[in-house]
Amino acid sequence: MKVSLGAQTLAPAPMYIVGTYDGDGRANVMAAAWAGICCSKPPCLTVSLRKATCSYHNILKREAFTVNIPGEDQAAAADYFGLISGRDTDKLADTGLTAVKSDLVDAPYIAEFPLVLECSLFQVHELGLHTMFVGEIKDVKAEESVLGEGKTLDMGRAKPFFFSPGDRLYYRIGEKLGPAFSIGGKYRS
Ligand SMILES: Cc1cc2nc3c(=O)[nH]c(=O)nc-3n(C[C@H](O)[C@H](O)[C@H](O)COP(=O)(O)O)c2cc1C
Repeated sequence: MKVSLGAQTLAPAPMYIVGTYDGDGRANVMAAAWAGICCSKPPCLTVSLRKATCSYHNILKREAFTVNIPGEDQAAAADYFGLISGRDTDKLADTGLTAVKSDLVDAPYIAEFPLVLECSLFQVHELGLHTMFVGEIKDVKAEESVLGEGKTLDMGRAKPFFFSPGDRLYYRIGEKLGPAFSIGGKYRS
């Protein structure tokens, strides 16, 4: 039997770190879990930010942002990026991480994180408390260490993790379950 938990944002959420520049060219990073891939053609993703964040204003100014995917061993730094505003401190300096200027979009990415998506601002949607920014993915950069056979991305090596809004915990994603677009085939008549 199911129990009603009410109208809440209770779904596993990805841990994205949004990289932006402010008007003076200072790099900033923030945690954003209200986010995800949203279109294949053009390749797009969304991040939904509150106007209270520094990153919100940076994206509108620069019309670009990066999404940096931390590995499990970078969870504490990623969490820190969601605890404090770039208005009050230099979060990258505090964590000893390095901002690299994207050669494709007007935004920085984090050198030490295994996977980076560079986005130009494509659309903006006012939703309510959050504003949804749709970014068009211009390139994906991955550390060689997270590539598998045939130089394809091996998520098992990148070790991303997810945020659970209900218990406010980070969880490991775990082992491979089976091939997508394939294991369901057994139900075909
Ligand atoms: C796990 C986690 C997820 C978060 N997700 C979001 C989000 O999706 N949107 C948002 O506006 N703030 C989110 N936050 C809060 C921001 O990261 C936080 O307000 C941050 O200080 C904003 O940084 P900035 O002012 O430097 O841009 C999240 C924080 C954490 C810890």
